[in-house]
Amino acid sequence: MAQAQSTDPIIGQTFGNVIAKSLLGRGGMGAVYLGYHAGLDMKVAVKLLPDLFVGRAELVERFLREARLSGRLQHPNIVRTLDVGQSHGVYYLVMEYVEGVDAQKLLDREKRFTPMRAVNIAGFVARALGEAHEQDIMHRDIKPANILIARDGKVKVTDFGLARSLNNTATALTLSNQVVGTPNYMAPEQIKTTSVDMRVDIYALGVTLWQFLTGVLPFEGETPMAVLLNVVNEPLPMPEETFGPLPKELREAIVAMTAKDPRRRLPNIPAVLAVLKKARDALLHAGLNSTAPLTSAGQRPPVGETRDPVSGNSFGAPIPVPPKGAAAKGDHTTFTKPLGGIAAPKPAARPGSTPPRKPPTR
Ligand SMILES: Nc1ncnc2c1ncn2[C@@H]1O[C@H](COP(=O)(O)OP(=O)(O)OP(=O)(O)O)[C@@H](O)[C@H]1O
Ligand SMILES: [Mg+2]
Repeated sequence: MAQAQSTDPIIGQTFGNVIAKSLLGRGGMGAVYLGYHAGLDMKVAVKLLPDLFVGRAELVERFLREARLSGRLQHPNIVRTLDVGQSHGVYYLVMEYVEGVDAQKLLDREKRFTPMRAVNIAGFVARALGEAHEQDIMHRDIKPANILIARDGKVKVTDFGLARSLNNTATALTLSNQVVGTPNYMAPEQIKTTSVDMRVDIYALGVTLWQFLTGVLPFEGETPMAVLLNVVNEPLPMPEETFGPLPKELREAIVAMTAKDPRRRLPNIPAVLAVLKKARDALLHAGLNSTAPLTSAGQRPPVGETRDPVSGNSFGAPIPVPPKGAAAKGDHTTFTKPLGGIAAPKPAARPGSTPPRKPPTR
């Protein structure tokens, strides 16, 4: 790994004011590097977009537009976009660096989360979505890998709007002939048409919550297309043996968030927060209030790594200097505190975007 890093030609290159220091991870839409921003004298994360963008003016244009839009988002549960540009023929996005771990890696390590921890993280993601939806910005790729858990316990959602740069994942699949994006979290209408609205984020959050509770993905298939077909056609399983004895409020929350028909799904984020709060209250009532990691007996979390992302303070050292733009607007210890920016429910639509889709044809 160390050898791979040292031979990585990206390391040491500059992207605008940022010098790439080390690889943080790779995803379907490029690679993310830890960088140092000389002007701001701070660590940042730089996302390099894949070659898929080269020579595709309309994709580049859409990417830049989405990046500018997401740059407007300022919320404690949203990773701040700081810059966007092109260097060495590569399009890049500079963002706030979140020192911690993403929820997918945490899941891989701990297998699954306690119901309270799962609901709490989902609640913070919902708050982030509430802020974005208020500004008519969809995420379109909500999944554990895009949910970062900082060392001090804050939950931050990254990659806002980026999936839209590729129009939608189904298009991306065709474009690149490989999996870009994640079919398992895609709402049926996202697969069947490009005409979607904010409810795709609600669906993806429901699947993410399901995965937090079970540690596995709901729709399986040998190929991405097989998964897509299952998403469209198969009901989301609710196996008692996988979930264990959960309050019905939590099951109902998941069912309401993941309805295949968007007209039957929870219509907006305030509605999602309401059902999550009900589920949280029911968990408290049932005494299922632990947010501790579900590690096997005697197995301790690795030193310096996250132990309880939601109650905070259980991590190794706290972050000495909070990242810029992450000013406290709300409390990161419980998502059920007053929501500040999240106002009354309103229909989801972005000016110039496609209208809510028609009912699916069967
Ligand atoms: N702002 C950030 N701060 C710290 N680490 C980050 C940041 N953004 C991403 N990462 C890390 O880099 C990894 C790769 O991110 P990336 O977005 O490329 O992949 P992904 O989320 O798995 O897939 P996708 O391309 O579909 O978003 C993440 O899983 C996360 O661990
Ligand atoms: Mg990502």
